[in-house]
Amino acid sequence: MVKFTGAHIVSIDQFQRADVDLIFEVADTMEPYALRKRVTRVLEGAILGNMFFEASTRTRISFGSAFNLLGGQVRETAGFASSALIKGESLQDTARVLSGFSDVICMRHPAAGSVAKFASASRVPVISGGDGDNEHPTQALLDLYTIRKEMKGKGRSIDGLKIAMIGDLRYGRTVHSLSKLLSLYKDVEFVLISPHELSLPKNILELVRSLGFKVSCSDHLTESIVDVDIVYSTRIQEERFPSKQQADLYRGRFRLNQAIYTEFCQPNTVIMHPLPRDSRSDANELDSDLDDNPNLAIFRQTDNGLLVRMALFAMVLDVVNKVEQYSYAARWYKERQN
Ligand code: CP
Repeated sequence: MVKFTGAHIVSIDQFQRADVDLIFEVADTMEPYALRKRVTRVLEGAILGNMFFEASTRTRISFGSAFNLLGGQVRETAGFASSALIKGESLQDTARVLSGFSDVICMRHPAAGSVAKFASASRVPVISGGDGDNEHPTQALLDLYTIRKEMKGKGRSIDGLKIAMIGDLRYGRTVHSLSKLLSLYKDVEFVLISPHELSLPKNILELVRSLGFKVSCSDHLTESIVDVDIVYSTRIQEERFPSKQQADLYRGRFRLNQAIYTEFCQPNTVIMHPLPRDSRSDANELDSDLDDNPNLAIFRQTDNGLLVRMALFAMVLDVVNKVEQYSYAARWYKERQN
């Protein structure tokens, strides 16, 4: 098992199934704090350096909120323009400096391998928020945590799951990490739906196949989603293409809407997406007419991200057993009318 205390979290390759089970066990205990029913000050005085050198809404805010909810403070850099990296400072020097100001650092960067490089020079734990087209480990953990919850509600588990991954599987780092994570489980069946040019990278495909998992590849959406438990849709990662025109060749190829869902999916197929979904008319990979579908789990994914990231902070900073001790009931809390 991973020794979480003080560990960097940069790749799913670090984990075994027992590690993931432990993260999920701790994430479950974070719910009263994430819902703001209880307040914990366990990380009072601790500082998160939240360094995002690439656009983000949910990962950046979720990491920051998770740290705040544990009582810590957050310092942020967003984009290269406001960072000394633009003046030629190396990632390692940036890490040496920032690890003097922070107790843990979260980082997103457009280059594959950059977060591991940064972590190699950091004196404090570094958690990846995504490195280029490589990996997005905490997204995969929150995705799998969501899958586990959704399947449990249907009397099922992760073992034996059939999942369709749809869209840009080449550049989509969330599907890279999620494929590796699902490979820790048993009898998972992968249906990979993408244009041939945007297929899952060979090394990940070979890993999954070498472990004996059943994998099928297709570039037709409707015929491939008829008997899956999960459809996991993704955006065309335009920022990774040489030009917008090249991304446009694939945009809008695999659109899921309520009519298609009703005709082709099982009635309880869970719909997932790491978000952001591209809702522009030429893309619209997950139509807003699915928003009232109870199997649409996309906003449960984002809520679950808070729990998983709180768990990771508590584990790497070794305070899991002190969270409750330093907690009290929120004075202002009223049950929400959702
Ligand atoms: N899922 C995800 O990484 O979203 P952001 O780009 O908004 O962080």
